[in-house]
Amino acid sequence: RQEICRRHSTRDYRVIAVPDPPRDRTPEAYGAEVRDWHAARAEAYEIALAEQVLDGETVGLLVWGDPSLYDSTIRVVERIRSRGLLDIDYDVIPGVSSVQVLAARHRLVLNVIGGPITITTGRRLAEEVAGGAENIVVMLDGQLACSELPGAWDIWWGAQLGTTDEELVAGRLSDVLPEIEKARARAKVARGWVMDTYLLRRAAGHRSPHRSRA
Ligand SMILES: C[S@@+](CC[C@H](N)C(=O)[O-])C[C@H]1O[C@@H](n2cnc3c(N)ncnc32)[C@H](O)[C@@H]1O
Repeated sequence: RQEICRRHSTRDYRVIAVPDPPRDRTPEAYGAEVRDWHAARAEAYEIALAEQVLDGETVGLLVWGDPSLYDSTIRVVERIRSRGLLDIDYDVIPGVSSVQVLAARHRLVLNVIGGPITITTGRRLAEEVAGGAENIVVMLDGQLACSELPGAWDIWWGAQLGTTDEELVAGRLSDVLPEIEKARARAKVARGWVMDTYLLRRAAGHRSPHRSRA
């Protein structure tokens, strides 16, 4: 983030670091834990804005990828506004999401012609498939939940997209899973963390008949 500011900011700026409140990563009630965490984040940002930002100054919150996908920044800013202690307005500047980079790297159109696309998490994948989803982008999956899926699937997988140690694998899921596991482990060793996203599509010949709309 500091490097982005250094390279691209055309105005004077200063950095205000707000430590992230701690969070239980394996809670029993996921939704409630995340809502509490957003509330704690909103409070921490509010304090920083009140104490460290002057009237009329502009603040930028740097977001990973694009804030429209699995990111809490917009919700947190809305919480601050709804608390009513600070008078703030804001714009959202779009970024490039990992989903867009995945599609571009594999030269993919995410949907089949006229068909729907489901974007979900590893946690919900089995449920979406049971509900009939056949063309699915999966994010936030630390366990490669796709390895448990019944049936024949094609996968287009990417890790550390947009970085110098990007990893890409594509093919029939049952064939390429070992390669994905190896690439995932390699990426984790290189940086100490791994972020991956993938498109799963039920293999041709195994799909339900699709009725497209004109
Ligand atoms: C908290 S979400 C943030 C998504 C982000 N707002 C975006 O636009 O991609 C984190 C998830 O995004 C995906 N992700 C983020 N950065 C990635 C990257 N560089 N390569 C692959 N997947 C990435 C992974 O699925 C990861 O678990």
